[in-house]
Amino acid sequence: MGFPVNRPRRLRTTETMRRLVAENQVTVNDLVYPLFTCPGTNVKEPIGSMDGCFHISPDIIAEEAKEVAELGIPAVLLFGLPSKKDAVGSESADVNGAVPQAIKAIKAACPDLLVITDVCLCAYTDHGHCGVLKDGRIENDTSCGLLAEMALVHARAGADIVAPSDMMDGRIGVMRKRLDEEGFVDTAIMSYSAKYASAFYGPFRDAAHSAPGKGDRKSYQMDPPNSDEAMVEMELDLQEGADILMVKPGLPYLDIICRARQRFDVPVAAYHVSGEYMAVNAAAEAGLIDKQAAMMECLVSLKRAGAGIIITYYAKEAARQIS
Ligand code: PBG
Repeated sequence: MGFPVNRPRRLRTTETMRRLVAENQVTVNDLVYPLFTCPGTNVKEPIGSMDGCFHISPDIIAEEAKEVAELGIPAVLLFGLPSKKDAVGSESADVNGAVPQAIKAIKAACPDLLVITDVCLCAYTDHGHCGVLKDGRIENDTSCGLLAEMALVHARAGADIVAPSDMMDGRIGVMRKRLDEEGFVDTAIMSYSAKYASAFYGPFRDAAHSAPGKGDRKSYQMDPPNSDEAMVEMELDLQEGADILMVKPGLPYLDIICRARQRFDVPVAAYHVSGEYMAVNAAAEAGLIDKQAAMMECLVSLKRAGAGIIITYYAKEAARQIS
């Protein structure tokens, strides 16, 4: 068979027809909204490099969380800043830090909203690397121990899911063991498993004040040309106890999302990162593209590739558009 019997355009004739045959749909249930917390009181400071994003102190962050929950978005991903940075990122495991306080405030105001926390040292170290340094090299195993303590502090404060984004080897196993030892057997781990050394994190590093002072992250984050290696990272993370696998960034790595979805039977998350977000916004601002349409196209592409969870700064806008 073929033309003229087959006419694929028949199924595209009207909006309703297209709706009927759509293979994928982004729903509000898929979305995760990132939030940034910082020390202090009554702080709500715009993040210059990221439209619509703010550093918010724990005492007032519940207002933002309520808005997210009311939109039906199931989860927030929480990032924090310390009051001061040092070589080993001491404040990353401070029980009175901004993140633990923010977790408690959000859980008190919105008990059903899932709180996911980013677990990484880069915002807490004065050198800006995701692990600790010795003689200019990242000390993998020492870093894992510190990250596990950070995750434990978050779990104690009430985090539902911890999300290590450091890319040290073995950190999932160390973290799972530490959480279990302390009774947090139900705290889930969403691993930034295939996190690439990407230029698309530019705006975020401004937000987290976390650009590495010297060097880059290429000795721990993945090299963009690699795809098989992402499968190795994911396999290891699953063996070590990860519950959810993440690919980051999103759109430049749709093939990785697709391979992960086909190969592993756990939820796959995609992080539509700051640079992807701001690139669309900048193009829209310049009058080059339709922002709402481009936003939904980005999100449905992540879904089509196989991401059941989409972390995006567009979560609130998308939720409004979907409903
Ligand atoms: C911290 C971290 C980064 C992002 C999430 N967690 C930055 C980085 O690794 O440089 C990026 C998020 C974004 O760009 O939206 N390790």
